[in-house]
Amino acid sequence: FVPTPAAATGDAEGASRRLPQTIIIGVRKGGTRALIEMLGLHGDVAAAENEVHFFDWENHFEKGFSWYVSQMPFSYPGQITVEKTPAYFTSGKVPGRVHRMNPHIKLLLILRDPTERVLSDYTQVFYNRLQRRKQLQPIESVLLRDGEINLDYKAVNRSLYYVHMQNWLRFFPPERIHIVDGDRLIRDPFPEMERVEQFLSLSPQINASNFYFNKTKGFYCLRDHGRERCLHDSKGRAHPQVSAALRDKLYRFFHEPNKKFFELVGRTFDWNE
Ligand code: A3P
Repeated sequence: FVPTPAAATGDAEGASRRLPQTIIIGVRKGGTRALIEMLGLHGDVAAAENEVHFFDWENHFEKGFSWYVSQMPFSYPGQITVEKTPAYFTSGKVPGRVHRMNPHIKLLLILRDPTERVLSDYTQVFYNRLQRRKQLQPIESVLLRDGEINLDYKAVNRSLYYVHMQNWLRFFPPERIHIVDGDRLIRDPFPEMERVEQFLSLSPQINASNFYFNKTKGFYCLRDHGRERCLHDSKGRAHPQVSAALRDKLYRFFHEPNKKFFELVGRTFDWNE
């Protein structure tokens, strides 16, 4: 599997499509859309609009790197190309494939409280089914089996961050994977984005005035050259009501896996309060 030339034919000013120098690998419902939109505020970043699913979908991967490049936005020399596909983080075959493309690539991973992430994941599935006029089982019946948290439920498995992180650390040193705190990005995006700029060795261009809190949405929105925009309505949706007992059960369930994750990455997050 040999990469085709990184740059496809471009125009006279040097704009062309290039392989990404950084990838947002996940996690699903972690805030990946917010992260790529906020990163796109930077003049030296060219962000792919859609989720590419190159490394995790066989029918895409088979098409090779020339196809992958064709999915990238045009960029100028000196700009960083970025794509986001949240499913990469939890797909076992992806880390090796990304490593074969570029062992020095910088990876961005945005994580959020695993309990909140499960509820957000369930909400996403709920709305997807609603669109297809299908019913979804009540949250208790998918989250629990014989009164215990159901590990076979995919949304639970995706929140076992240490399991998936181990796969990535087999191929990439920790300093190549920058973890964005998704809960903090919701509360106060600017400091998180400053850290992302530093990690990507970008000049400090994003500033506090790029963000304003929109009371109606209940989230920060973006201000880009005077234009204001919020994320799509599907981002920042109300989660289903779950009983205090079930929420508590989830928190207790994730306590150990979270601890293992903290040990793995040498850093803690406010997930167990
Ligand atoms: P909820 O809709 O469950 O609240 P992803 O883009 O990876 O699917 O993540 C979606 C999540 O991004 C949303 O989950 C929301 O909490 C979070 N998010 C972070 N910053 C946001 C912002 N500024 N506007 C809207 N959603 C944001």
